[in-house]
Amino acid sequence: MAKYKTLDDFEIKDKVLLVRVDFNSEIDPQTKNVTSDVRIKAHAEATLKELAEKGAKTVVLAHQGRKGDPDYTPLKQHAEILQNILNCPVKYVDDVFGDKAKAAIKSLQSGEILVLENVRSWDKETKSGTPEDHSKTDLVQSLAPLADIFVNDAFAAAHRGHVSMVGFTAVLPSAAGRIMERELKSLSKALEKPEKPCVYVMGGAKADDSLEISKYVLGNGIADFVVVGGVTSQLFLAAKGVDLGKKNMDFLAKKELTGLIPGIKALMEQYGEKVVVPVDVALDMDGKRKEIDVSELPTEYPIFDIGAKTVDKYAKLIADAKAIVVSGPMGVYENKEFNYGTKKVFEAIANSKGFSLAGGGNTIAAIQEYGLSDKVGYISTAGGALIEFLMGKKLPGVVALENAAETKRI
Ligand code: 3PG
Repeated sequence: MAKYKTLDDFEIKDKVLLVRVDFNSEIDPQTKNVTSDVRIKAHAEATLKELAEKGAKTVVLAHQGRKGDPDYTPLKQHAEILQNILNCPVKYVDDVFGDKAKAAIKSLQSGEILVLENVRSWDKETKSGTPEDHSKTDLVQSLAPLADIFVNDAFAAAHRGHVSMVGFTAVLPSAAGRIMERELKSLSKALEKPEKPCVYVMGGAKADDSLEISKYVLGNGIADFVVVGGVTSQLFLAAKGVDLGKKNMDFLAKKELTGLIPGIKALMEQYGEKVVVPVDVALDMDGKRKEIDVSELPTEYPIFDIGAKTVDKYAKLIADAKAIVVSGPMGVYENKEFNYGTKKVFEAIANSKGFSLAGGGNTIAAIQEYGLSDKVGYISTAGGALIEFLMGKKLPGVVALENAAETKRI
C-alpha cells in the first residue's frame, strides 16, 4: 500500500481542491512565451481533466521561474494553454491569496477550474522552513480555510520544501495527484529492486549529478553497470588517466568540472568494470566528424561525441538489460555531425525489451526528435527532482504527503 493518499481515497464531487502542479515551462526570453507545454499537458490530461469530470471545484497553484530570472512570468498564458488542452473554460485571476483570489475561489462551481497567479510573486514562497512553519504563513492561512483537500501533483518541484509544496499538508487532508502518483510508481521501478541487469546511462554535462547518482546506485546494488557519455565521459576518461589534450582539459577546467576527477577515480577503482567508459570518441575537425580510439588521444580537436565502437559496446549492455535509466545525451546531439552516439544509444534503449526510464530536458528533447517517445517505458516530467530521487534523497514534497497520510486527516 502506498504511504501517501491518492485521489482514490477521497470523495471529491463539489469539494474545493487546492491542486499544486508544476507548470514551470521553457520560456522564450524575448517574447516571454511558453515554448514547451509538456508539463501543462501532463497535469491537464492526467489529473485536472479527471477532477473537472468528477465535479470538483479545482484551484490550481503553480510557479513559473524565479523573480529576476528571464523565465519568470505571470500564469495567464499557462491558464490559456490549459484551456486549449482541456477544451473547456479555465478561469484565471492575477492574485494568489488576496481578496480577488478568495472571491474567485468562493464563486467556483462544480467542475470548474481556476488558475491562481504565479505563487512565486509572493516573496515568502521560496523561503526555507519546516512544514509546520510554512503552515502558519499568510498563503496557507488564507487559502486553507477555503479548501477541502490539498492535492500535490507537482513531482517535478518535490525537491523544493517551499511553502506551497509542504505547508498545506500540515493543515488539510492531502493527496498525491495522478502525475505525482505516476512518477513515484515509475521511478520506484528504477530505484527499488529494479529487474536485473540494470544499466544506468549517464550523459550530458552535469557530471557532479552523474557522480552522485553513480555512487548511490552502484553502492546500493541498484545498478549493475553505469555507462557514461557526453562531457561526463570525458571526465571519467581523464580520471582513468587518459590525456584528452589541452583544448579538452581546458574546457573541463573552464566549466569547473576537474575538481570532480578524484571522486570519479575513487568510484572507478571501487567498482571496476561496472563503470563503463568510451573506447573511441568523435572529434570536431573544423566542423567535420572524425572518430579515433581513446588509445590515440591526446588530440588538439574538441571531443563532441562517443564513437561507433563505444555505441556498439553500450548497445550490447542495453540489449541485455531488464531495466535502463537514461539521463543526458551522449554528445553534442543538436549538431547533425555529432548526433550519432545519442541517436544510436537512445534507439538501443527504445528497442530494448527491458523497462526504460528517461528524464531531463535535453534527453526528452532528443527522444522526441528521434520519434522514440512511444518506445521508452516512462518519460519523467521532472529535472532536478528526478536527479535528487535517483541520488536516493528524500524529496520534501513527497515526505510531506507521507506525513499527512499518517495523521489520518481525511
Ligand atoms: C523544475 O523545473 O525543476 C521545478 O519546477 C523547480 O523549479 P526551480 O528549480 O526554479 O525551483
